[in-house]
Amino acid sequence: MRSSNNILLITTVLASASLQAQTITRDNGSPVGDNQNSITAGANGPVLLQDVQLIQKLQRFARERIPERVVHARGTGAHGEFVAESDFSDLTLSAPFAEKGKITPVFVRFSTVIHSKGSPETLRDPRGFATKFYTEQGNWDLVGNNLPVFFIRDSIKFPDMVHSLKPSPITNIQDPNRFFDFFSLEPSATNMLTWVYSNLGTPASYRMMDGFGVHAYKWINNKGDVNYVKFQWKSRQGVKSLRPNEVAEIQGKDFNHLTNDLYKEIKAGNYPKWDLYVKVLSPEQMDKLNYNGLDATKSWLNIPEKKVGTMTLNRIPSNFFLETEQAAFAPSNLISGIEPSEDRLLQGRLFAYADTQLHRVGVNQFQLPINRPLAPVNNYNQDGFSNNAKIDSNINYEPSNQIKLSDDPQYKSIETKLHGVIQQEGINNPRDFYQAGIFYRSLNEQDKKDLIHNLSGDLNKVNDEEIKIKMVRYFYLADENYGMRLAKATHIPLEKITNKRI
Ligand code: HEM
Repeated sequence: MRSSNNILLITTVLASASLQAQTITRDNGSPVGDNQNSITAGANGPVLLQDVQLIQKLQRFARERIPERVVHARGTGAHGEFVAESDFSDLTLSAPFAEKGKITPVFVRFSTVIHSKGSPETLRDPRGFATKFYTEQGNWDLVGNNLPVFFIRDSIKFPDMVHSLKPSPITNIQDPNRFFDFFSLEPSATNMLTWVYSNLGTPASYRMMDGFGVHAYKWINNKGDVNYVKFQWKSRQGVKSLRPNEVAEIQGKDFNHLTNDLYKEIKAGNYPKWDLYVKVLSPEQMDKLNYNGLDATKSWLNIPEKKVGTMTLNRIPSNFFLETEQAAFAPSNLISGIEPSEDRLLQGRLFAYADTQLHRVGVNQFQLPINRPLAPVNNYNQDGFSNNAKIDSNINYEPSNQIKLSDDPQYKSIETKLHGVIQQEGINNPRDFYQAGIFYRSLNEQDKKDLIHNLSGDLNKVNDEEIKIKMVRYFYLADENYGMRLAKATHIPLEKITNKRI
């Protein structure tokens, strides 16, 4: 009798557990009796404040959005792995390059830059190519773009540049009058503008796009030798961009074409792959370049490159918000064996991403599965909103005589000799135009035509003739043929660009 009572009890508990699993609950776990009707005072009376289910639903709904990224808001991501090509420990201590065949899990987010989270993926823009490597030394983020250079070389200009490119504060529409006004006073952008107005500014697929770290970084080996490096992802699918007429056509059919393509191909088992290449320069070799090798508006031209590994993307996120939206990539997420170079743009980025993510994702962002390092996290950072880290010790400070958690000198930053004075000056030898000319001349005739078409299309929306002339003059200084064709397409008399002094 007793035992059958027990069975009854267990069955009832199990039944109620499975019933609970089926029943809608409030966030405190208690079952909801009616999810269709609010509680009212009588048939025609007002809704009562005591309807905690109604109030919780409305409150939670109103708080579903976190701030969208201030730039690169529209994106899509995928998981995968990086496999090292060989042992590169002669160059770097970094874990992903420690031995041939070593596998490091990764998460990649591709993005457009300027427009908001739901904007069409067809719009002309550089494309973000951000990779998080989950290594045993901690997370390393390589936060790059699909173009090798950038518009500006000093982070102090970034907020102004982005304001000029973002929709107008009055009309909420992007306006070439505003961004060409800015760029007409920023000749350093000539190279990047040429890249972004080429068809590479409208990729056909994220799978068919290269990626660039853009900045120089430092690789450091276990002897403390320092080399400058630049990273490039090369798509094994090849590079494919949309021509101007294709952009209009695809935009009409499917303005989510990049996300749809990535998801479709990965779901079908066609896993996209990229090879990672590095260019390596010793500090002495950097000094000998005839441009500034730390200038983010420049590529390192004609420098040999070596393949250091291959990345495969093989799993799409199971939830967009949890993974892609809450992912926080930051150039400051560095690991042993890689340090920032003195590039002024990169130095600003080291601050900006970690800072915006404290606001966008919160102080405990590293506890979220997508951002959580595989490496153990041992420190005394604590508390803050939405903290799930259990602290079960009375010691939350260092140094302490009671717990042996301490720093380790082998991970100290590398010593670098300094010379000069504290100053506020532009870089020496900016050479604003020459690499734009090299890129222009490398294009085939069709791509040159498309570039002139794309660029003149936006320049012709500029009302101020002086701004147009200044812009076309920059492209003329990059390459005469480029400037002359652009002058024709923008109806500017040639003598206005050939005679004008800058
Ligand atoms: C995203 C700032 C230059 C690539 C962002 C975000 C900020 C930012 C605030 C949003 C981050 C977030 O909410 O998680 C800056 C500043 C720059 C700069 C201040 C210059 C000083 C660059 C450059 C590149 C780049 C040169 C490429 C090499 C990206 C990418 C993302 C991003 C790929 C999106 C990351 C993701 O997918 O979450 N940037 N940026 N940015 N930036 Fe920059």
